[in-house]
Amino acid sequence: MKYAIIADVHGNLEALQAVLAAAKQEKPDRLIHLGDLVGYGASPVECVDVVRQIKAKGICGNHERYITGVSSLDLVSREDKRATIEYARDRMRPDQLLDLKSLPLQLATEDGLLFVHGSPRNEDEYLLTWEAFQENIQYLRMTMPDVHVCFFGHTHVPALATATKVEMKFEEKPDVAVIQLADSKTYLVNPGSVGQPRDRCAKAAWALYDSTEDVVEFRRTAYDIAGAQRRMEQAGFDAKIISRLGTGQ
Ligand SMILES: [Fe+2]
Repeated sequence: MKYAIIADVHGNLEALQAVLAAAKQEKPDRLIHLGDLVGYGASPVECVDVVRQIKAKGICGNHERYITGVSSLDLVSREDKRATIEYARDRMRPDQLLDLKSLPLQLATEDGLLFVHGSPRNEDEYLLTWEAFQENIQYLRMTMPDVHVCFFGHTHVPALATATKVEMKFEEKPDVAVIQLADSKTYLVNPGSVGQPRDRCAKAAWALYDSTEDVVEFRRTAYDIAGAQRRMEQAGFDAKIISRLGTGQ
């Protein structure tokens, strides 16, 4: 089974379309999104529609919980960020809000995969430190021993972790990084963010996973960044949120 996995699209239609075009060439059997389809970007309505059209299965991110009222917007302290969430909330159609509200917090497959937004133990956790990775690997082994690979998002930084190694930098940032997994290990894998990368690479990030070969491919796809930024300017978003798309941070 071949999976295309996308995370943190964040209302960036230009990035989403470029990634889906690239993913289509790989003929995946399933397309999964890891939440945060909305927020930050200027095309939340369009992104939610596109993901529904292609029948991608997905999970709920914190931004979906904000715009559907499941989590309070008071939790978002940054004014510039909150403005983009309110923009998405105010434009989303009732049928879209219902769809987003029904997204699960986790999704498990019959072939040993788990999909979450933050971490296996907490949907709001940012998996960035060695300790956090190790505690979550242990958590998976104790509570969900059948899980071989858990895909997560939320940090917008591509990562691959086991009980003995955490890789996050992918220094040279190639457009394709192919990594053979080992059957006996438990993995935590972040494909990176489609619409709001934060690892100092502006290209859209996503991943392919072949469960038969047990291979993960980290992918980077160029897209029309200036076009996405123009749309954000028209929406009246804060300059800092717009400019960071160009540097991937
Ligand atoms: Fe996010």
